[in-house]
Amino acid sequence: MTGSSPRAVSRRGLLTGGALAAGGALGAAVAVTAAGSDDPATRPAATTPVAEIGLAVEPFHGTRQAGVATEPQAHAAFVALVLRPETDRKALGRMLRLLSDDAARLTQGRPALADTEPELGLLPARLTVTFGFGPGFYRAANLDERRPPSVAALPAFGIDRLSPRWSGGDLLLQICADDPLTVTHAQRVLVKDSRPFATVAWVQQGFRRAAGAEPGRTQRNLFGQLDGTANPKPGAPLETAVWVPDGPTWLRDSTTLVVRRISMNLETWDLLGRTDRELSVGRRLDTGAPLTGTDEHDEPDFTALGSGGLTVIPDFSHLTRSHVAEDRLRILRRPYNYDGVPSADGTADSGLIFASYQADITRQFLPIQRRLAERDLLNEWTTPIGSAVFAIPPGCSEGGWIGQQLLG
Ligand code: HEM
Repeated sequence: MTGSSPRAVSRRGLLTGGALAAGGALGAAVAVTAAGSDDPATRPAATTPVAEIGLAVEPFHGTRQAGVATEPQAHAAFVALVLRPETDRKALGRMLRLLSDDAARLTQGRPALADTEPELGLLPARLTVTFGFGPGFYRAANLDERRPPSVAALPAFGIDRLSPRWSGGDLLLQICADDPLTVTHAQRVLVKDSRPFATVAWVQQGFRRAAGAEPGRTQRNLFGQLDGTANPKPGAPLETAVWVPDGPTWLRDSTTLVVRRISMNLETWDLLGRTDRELSVGRRLDTGAPLTGTDEHDEPDFTALGSGGLTVIPDFSHLTRSHVAEDRLRILRRPYNYDGVPSADGTADSGLIFASYQADITRQFLPIQRRLAERDLLNEWTTPIGSAVFAIPPGCSEGGWIGQQLLG
């Protein structure tokens, strides 16, 4: 179900459902056009009608949850909840039935039941709601034996400066859409409905380029780097890296998620020259090509030597330290930028909500994170300040609910 191309909500369906307010978005089908770039190679090509962006839907029901292999939407909220002490297995079932119903409706452009702002539920903008279960979820359900073993607190790394403000959580709601109002409304509905069962631990809101601004392009982070180039490709590589292929029903078609809030020091990064910036990652800033290639997707050559006898891609570069050649060891990165309020002197509060999906955290994520913590030049300008892990259980069919295989 995931990764499928979005299907637009039919105009007729919306109108006959009384869905679209008078003078609504359909009248404003303005084409987004590319502008302002002299270089055809770096200029976005396609045009996307604005109304199509608002009406596009991603499926909610299916064997796997949406929001993982789904082409990343422009906006995201990661909402971590902590279960109330009295929330037991039965209560978890009630909560997840309710939240799954909210998600099933809102993702399809229908207001939630008893939605207090029903007009805000009408433009799904590819909304996905992905549920994640932290270690505390399994404890509350008294089902710790069903917890995927790698969904456990990560070891401490020397580079970590973790704050409880951005760490942990029993239940994650990952809400993504191409429209920020859609995300905010879904967040409000879901948080309201979880109140009897849980409290809010943290919320992280993030963004990428606006939908349609750079179709098909790798996103840029706030250091200006292309971020996501070496993700596993759709098809067999992604299947192998991300999804659990077999096992009991609560594991098959599941995955795991690591969320790390990583602050990026733009003040000191700004002091670096372009060459040093490119050496720290091992890729060019303009094209994203490895320093040994010309195209973004060229294979890096880690053995190529420069005139000084050193490797062209430095041994301590982020690329060298994070590189993985085998599909079963890769991770799928789906990060969002964050940008908080600068301090009074203008110092930025910027960074990355690093989100990675993998079938097994211990086998895939941890070895990469260990190598990076040990020696990655990028650590000079980046600091992990939050960390959380979740199992992403399988999806559900119509009439079912997320977590049913585990709790039902
Ligand atoms: C703020 C922190 C980070 C920044 C700015 C950053 C940036 C980048 C950039 C620019 C690339 C090269 C292009 C690409 O393939 O996407 C890259 C690659 C990669 N990064 Fe990061 N990264 C960060 C943190 C992390 C963390 C925490 C991990 C995992 C523990 C990680 C794992 C990877 C991997 C696996 C690759 C692909 C390597 C390959 O196989 O070529 N990164 N990152």
